[in-house]
Amino acid sequence: MKNKLWGGRFSKKTNPLVEEFTKSIQFDKKLAEYDCMGSLAHINVLKKAKLLSAEEHKELESGLEGILSSIRKGSFKIDDSFEDIHSYVQHLLEKKAGKVALKLHTCRSRNDQVVFDTKMYCVKNAAYTLNLFSDLGKVLDKLAKNNAGQVIAGYTHMQHAMPISLQDYLGAYSEMLKRDSNRIDNASKGISLTLGSGAIAGTFIDAEKYSSPAVNSIDTVSDRDFVIEILSALAITGMHLSRLAEDLILWSTKEFDFIDIDEAFCTGSSLMPQKKNPDALELIRGNTGKLYGNLMSVLVMMKGLPLSYNRDMQLDKEPLFESFEIIQKELKIMVALLPEIKFNKKNIARQLEDESLYATDLADYLVQNKVVFKDAHAIIGRLVKTGKEIKKMSSAELKKFHPALNSKVVNKIIDPKQSVASKKSVKRKKR
Ligand code: ARG
Repeated sequence: MKNKLWGGRFSKKTNPLVEEFTKSIQFDKKLAEYDCMGSLAHINVLKKAKLLSAEEHKELESGLEGILSSIRKGSFKIDDSFEDIHSYVQHLLEKKAGKVALKLHTCRSRNDQVVFDTKMYCVKNAAYTLNLFSDLGKVLDKLAKNNAGQVIAGYTHMQHAMPISLQDYLGAYSEMLKRDSNRIDNASKGISLTLGSGAIAGTFIDAEKYSSPAVNSIDTVSDRDFVIEILSALAITGMHLSRLAEDLILWSTKEFDFIDIDEAFCTGSSLMPQKKNPDALELIRGNTGKLYGNLMSVLVMMKGLPLSYNRDMQLDKEPLFESFEIIQKELKIMVALLPEIKFNKKNIARQLEDESLYATDLADYLVQNKVVFKDAHAIIGRLVKTGKEIKKMSSAELKKFHPALNSKVVNKIIDPKQSVASKKSVKRKKR
């Protein structure tokens, strides 16, 4: 391994197994941009503290900006033989700016640097993810609007429950996703980006020289609660997306046949020629395991760690990166897939013909005609139990169950639109 930041007290070479085992550049290369941004902030502090002359500052600044622009342009090449991204950026700066680069690490430790970089990564990725949430919110709203007035059978325990509007059904996911995006926003807003913690105790530079000095250096280098909060918000988002995915998978089965998922979002079978499988949605459902696992792995890794920085904490990055990447991909797929869904109105209507869906409406009608609810429940229970088509029963037959029932009344009540319209307890948002 080249150019270690810590070679001085060592006379032996690191065992290659240990070198391979401890390095992090293969994943923390994703922090390159934020590492340069942190270094740019750090050189300002060094200049204010008179540890860098204006000229030295300028040289380092232009070197760091050069590296930063190569990262942003995509021409940045990583040399995986370095220990971590911090060592590699230092090496590049030495190549660009020469000897002055040796001053960059003055009053700084990677313990502080890595937490700064990871926090910047979280803030940037949270902002990007929030935009994707907003795209998905718009897509759900549009789908609801385009299908305004569409009623579907609502299920509890996977059994026919009551008619509901498709708008409300999609609106339920909009509400969940709004809370998810708020959780990510709040976790991001709670992150305080500080510098000046050094390895554990702070440094000799006056806090006034920093634009955002650390409040407590030990806490700063020790904690990863911000990672855990983000991972938790992403795990909950994944859970919601998995439920949406599962509903769509079920609805696309021959048994339901409520929707058709566009071919572009499905794959086929190598053996069965007829197959069109909803694999993208299945993987959205399946990824939830990874999202929960990533949260668990960081929670467990942090448990019982003595203060302050310990190398264990290097293991927060892969779960964090993976969870963000999974959710970003899933949100993008949902944004593309949902507008292409075709609703099979015939089959949706067929399910709504099941009169048991209106049993509660019939009981409610009796309650509104002064029948005690428990009695109304029992009366309609008996009516349903006959197994006869209620709409076809004569008024005389219906009256045997209760005098307030007759054929005109049941025909009015057993109607999908009427059923949905009769529910007034919810303040539906106007779309
Ligand atoms: N790769 C390390 C991490 O992710 C960077 C900090 C290393 N600090 C140290 N003193 N070895 O946590």
